[in-house]
Amino acid sequence: MSKAHGGFLFGILRRSMEKIHKIGLFDSGLGGLTVLKALEDVLPQVPKIYYGDTLHLPYGDKSDEAIIGYSLRIVEFLRQQGCDVIVIACNSASAAAGAVLEQAFPSLRFVNVIDPVVEALANSNEKKVGLLGTRATVRSEEYPRRLSVLSNTVELVSLPTPLLVPLIEDGFLGSDIAEQVLRHYLNSPSFHGISSIVPGCTHYPLLKELAQKVLKDVRWIDAPEIVAAQVMQWWNSQSRLNQPTEHAGTQFFVSDKTESFMDLAQATFGISATWETAVLS
Ligand code: DGL
Repeated sequence: MSKAHGGFLFGILRRSMEKIHKIGLFDSGLGGLTVLKALEDVLPQVPKIYYGDTLHLPYGDKSDEAIIGYSLRIVEFLRQQGCDVIVIACNSASAAAGAVLEQAFPSLRFVNVIDPVVEALANSNEKKVGLLGTRATVRSEEYPRRLSVLSNTVELVSLPTPLLVPLIEDGFLGSDIAEQVLRHYLNSPSFHGISSIVPGCTHYPLLKELAQKVLKDVRWIDAPEIVAAQVMQWWNSQSRLNQPTEHAGTQFFVSDKTESFMDLAQATFGISATWETAVLS
């Protein structure tokens, strides 16, 4: 066998022996799909698995203990499906369960949705920023706590906005009711003088247009894109050569499959793939 030939065959053999890496993402429902979409744009060649915990939606109104329990079971499921990178595509779970997950699964690489956004804020010229979040995320104070470690110039005001997730999950996006509720929240006196808004829940990027209609001069921070850019940067630094170069596709799971959820995923994100049910215990 010629040297060139041998090298070629060795390359094929090495590639076939290497593991195909998969990224697992999870959220309580549809929201994490905003992160998946952004990730698809920058890492289409990486196979992904998405899990929506529709049985326990909304996470934002649950206790930390409950969110930790759901998250541990989901990550174990994603690990069994072959994922070695986990994107916690939910702010409530990132805040309540991020540290516990990292401890419980030391062999997995985790990316939460809070740190990349906090880092972007710390490197910005923002003076006063409004954070919209679920009760769980705002209660945790993880955004202001992590920001205070990196910056003492950006002021962050947080507002719990619990009505927004049910409105989105129930298909009221774009309705007058959604506009009224969002207007009510954005007109909160504590938001007076903000220059930007952080959608501190992965469902909220779907409200970008509406929010910009209500607050014309306020910048909307594209959180999913910031998170996806950080995942891509890390991924590329790992020189994972064995990944397919074509679009690799995503598998979709929910804990409770309903027609309305699948219709909404189709209407909002154009996802026509089959959703499989995986109830975790
Ligand atoms: N999308 C999630 C978040 O970022 C959870 C929303 C919910 O289920 O309350 O917090």
